[in-house]
Amino acid sequence: MKIDILTLFPNMFNGFKEESIIKRAIKDKKVKINTVNFREFASNKHKKVDDTPYGGGSGMVLMCQPIFDAVDSIKTKKSKIILLTPQGKTFNQKKAYELSKEEHLIFICGHYEGFDERIKSICDEEISIGDFVLTGGELPAMVICDSIVRLIPGVIDDESSKYESFNDGLLDYPSYTKPRNYKGMQVPDVLLTGNHEKINNWRKEKRLKVTSEKRPDLLKNKVKIDKTGIKENKNKICVDDIKNIKVTEVRPVRRTGIYKILKNDDIKAITILNPNLIYGYKLRGKNSSNSINKILIVKKEFITKIAMKNVRKKIDILNYRFNLVLSSEEDDEGTSRVLGEAEMLKQMIINTYANFLGEKNLDKIIKNINYLINEFVKAKTFQNQFFSKPKQERRR
Ligand SMILES: C[S@@+](CC[C@H](N)C(=O)[O-])C[C@H]1O[C@@H](n2cnc3c(N)ncnc32)[C@H](O)[C@@H]1O
Repeated sequence: MKIDILTLFPNMFNGFKEESIIKRAIKDKKVKINTVNFREFASNKHKKVDDTPYGGGSGMVLMCQPIFDAVDSIKTKKSKIILLTPQGKTFNQKKAYELSKEEHLIFICGHYEGFDERIKSICDEEISIGDFVLTGGELPAMVICDSIVRLIPGVIDDESSKYESFNDGLLDYPSYTKPRNYKGMQVPDVLLTGNHEKINNWRKEKRLKVTSEKRPDLLKNKVKIDKTGIKENKNKICVDDIKNIKVTEVRPVRRTGIYKILKNDDIKAITILNPNLIYGYKLRGKNSSNSINKILIVKKEFITKIAMKNVRKKIDILNYRFNLVLSSEEDDEGTSRVLGEAEMLKQMIINTYANFLGEKNLDKIIKNINYLINEFVKAKTFQNQFFSKPKQERRR
């Protein structure tokens, strides 16, 4: 691969080309990195490359002529010309892979206020390295070249780039080295087992976990699954074998967590397990064939929110029932019935919702119900003391 960098500051690239992996790649003839000072192409007497903007405004603008001529002097049919600009498409690993397959790249580094807009007409692409403004395009050119060169086959060990962050839409797994115990912090046992299958599974799990925690946006893309198993999309989210169950689509909702889908033959349902959680959701197909077409995978917080909402509704109903008993002239039977309902509600919440609510919320809810029970008992006792007598007298 050949890379030409059009810049007004070629010296900035000396250190870049003379260290570490880039230096070795150049030495091994995997890449040729060449800087072109486009000032040398300026046709005016003073080698001026910029001028004031038409219409007024601050700063100087790079002129067309030196850049057009510099590009003309080096470009071939196989060249890809890239303009470095904060307005370009944000660079990422996918683009790095794409560019690493090109034969000849030409990067144009801007400076000052930017370029004459017409320079864009000779470029194939505009690339930005992020939503911030740098003084010039030299650092972006180095950033991009570095990420590209290490992907050229043979530049680094192919195995080591295979599982790197972003390669398959996931972040890298955690790594450890000697010693096994550092200041009380242990290396996970699984890494010491020598069992490669176990280690690989652990790493796979960790990649999903780390990605869902740090970059849930990377998991947003659709994962397609058919009855024969998994049709992995580019994110390659690994899902356990779900043969025989027609799951045609898994659509993670915004800010999704990580998950596994498990088949359950007995109930013809599948369970989605979010490894962050210790529980899953069982789904049954609503249609006659009992197939599931769409699954929404949601984060634990969302499930907690829904569980809280459901539980609150049930507590509101209980409260209403308490008030009904108090406001009507119901006898002791009504009182013990509603108190029984309150106890059942507590049990039901503990049995059904505990996992979804979390310990703190569960504790709060049980206290809340106990408080309502106490208030009801107090009110009922008061009522009995002051109002039940006349009732009895009336009856007599
Ligand atoms: C000071 S910047 C010009 C910024 C321009 N006036 C704007 O607001 O979009 C000068 C040059 O630095 C380079 N540059 C600055 N930030 C960059 C970024 N985030 N990505 C790529 N190139 C950048 C570009 O080549 C740009 O022409």
